Amino acid sequence: MSNKQLETPLFSKLIEHTQKKPFPFHIPGHKQGNGVDPEFHQFIGKNAFLIDLINIAPLDNLHNPKQAIKQALELAAEAFHADHTFFSVQGTSCAIHSMILSVCSPGDKIIVPRNIHQSVLSALILADVVPIFIQPEIDEKLFIAHNVTPEQVKKAIKAHPDSKALFMIHPTYYGVASQLEEIVEIAHQHEIPVLVDEAHGVLQSFHEGLPISAMEAGADMAATSVHKLGGSLTQSSILNMKKERINPRHVQMVMNMLTTTSTSYLLIASLDTQRRYLALHGHRLIDQTLRLAAKARAQINQIPGLLCPENELLSHHSVYEIDRTKLIIHLGQLNISGYEAETWLRENHQIEVELSDLYNILCLITIGDTEETIQQLIAALQDLSANFGQRKAKKSKRIHFPHLPELIMPPREAFYHKKISSIPLEESINCVCAEMITFYPPGIPILLPGERISQSHLDYIQESLAANLPVQGTMDSTLQYIRVIH
Ligand SMILES: Cc1ncc(COP(=O)(O)O)c(C=O)c1O
Repeated sequence: MSNKQLETPLFSKLIEHTQKKPFPFHIPGHKQGNGVDPEFHQFIGKNAFLIDLINIAPLDNLHNPKQAIKQALELAAEAFHADHTFFSVQGTSCAIHSMILSVCSPGDKIIVPRNIHQSVLSALILADVVPIFIQPEIDEKLFIAHNVTPEQVKKAIKAHPDSKALFMIHPTYYGVASQLEEIVEIAHQHEIPVLVDEAHGVLQSFHEGLPISAMEAGADMAATSVHKLGGSLTQSSILNMKKERINPRHVQMVMNMLTTTSTSYLLIASLDTQRRYLALHGHRLIDQTLRLAAKARAQINQIPGLLCPENELLSHHSVYEIDRTKLIIHLGQLNISGYEAETWLRENHQIEVELSDLYNILCLITIGDTEETIQQLIAALQDLSANFGQRKAKKSKRIHFPHLPELIMPPREAFYHKKISSIPLEESINCVCAEMITFYPPGIPILLPGERISQSHLDYIQESLAANLPVQGTMDSTLQYIRVIH
């Protein structure tokens, strides 16, 4: 990396601007914090308000960057091994929307794994794109969806060589990465660009002990949440890209269509400074993070009733690689569900986990952790095991995931259909679904708008409801009624 990584062009520009003590007669109306509720002002501190600015000429414009923002983007591109980087002030969801809307036109096909985040479904609806789904493997033991394999990608491309893009998740929320380099090569042999949801993989660019980053694997675009694990402020994310197959000017145009014109300079300054921090110190910080995670994993695996898997413990480990900073803690031998454990840890140890499902909790070890925080977690898990290891309550049975449903019409057509009504769930067999239905675990949409509801889907939904699995995406949160096209 160049010495330029020491610089923070945008943040420095903001400081320079505030030091001139300007008299603002523009938005934001709080005018350097003077018009802010005093309690909030005192809590946040005055500096945050001094740089809560807007795109006046000296501060450049995110929609057409030419000065400080352009320089900050160039440094980010270098740090993330990209040809071009965009800042998103609307999270990774906006970056995902922009990727799909940049590459696909209405009616195009896109190959996507089924365990997509809801932002991908909304992009499919916005762009009017037809998904070709690959069903990721479900881990028998952990009951979570893993990733997709090169063989599955090959098969999908063979069946749909006219696909306009391949969408990958790298790694999944649970930290399971695919063989992305090989998959990119397969797609590129067919001139199909690869778009990557790298929401949970920002650190991959800064350490060889993590799965390879999307850009280094040769992907064409990657939506990368700096804010999730990289340390920038929440909502600040980036879109990285290579120029070989996609024109950055077109992507800028699409991003402008989707992005607020009231750019938060706090968010983009946070991206500028955190890029410097990661470029200069990321390797050392991630070394320490991996060491802490390894220590935590070893200690957790000593606790009766708990399992914290590494590569060799995942089913089909040879085709996946786990991001070892993410601790999937399987509670299979304890008499408590993941959901109950989440609440118990909160109420008894003030521990907040990243997520829980029926059988697991997920704890993230990040560049913000220390020996002390790890010991807090271990002590809490030991207590959890001591409290819930002895009961012999009957565990709920595993639910069998049904086959991929038939897509009768594109998600957009179903979403905007003129004839949608809510009917009782048990009467919906053979109807076309008009909403997204996802249970956690395993977090794979069971039905999407446009898909035919079969008996096996209905059985799965009813079993999941009986097991009290939380459902997402539906109009009726109890799912007694389902929206269908009639
Ligand atoms: C896999 C995945 N992709 C995309 C997103 C969207 O990211 P954001 O919340 O920054 O919009 C998330 C958010 O949790 C996610 O888990």
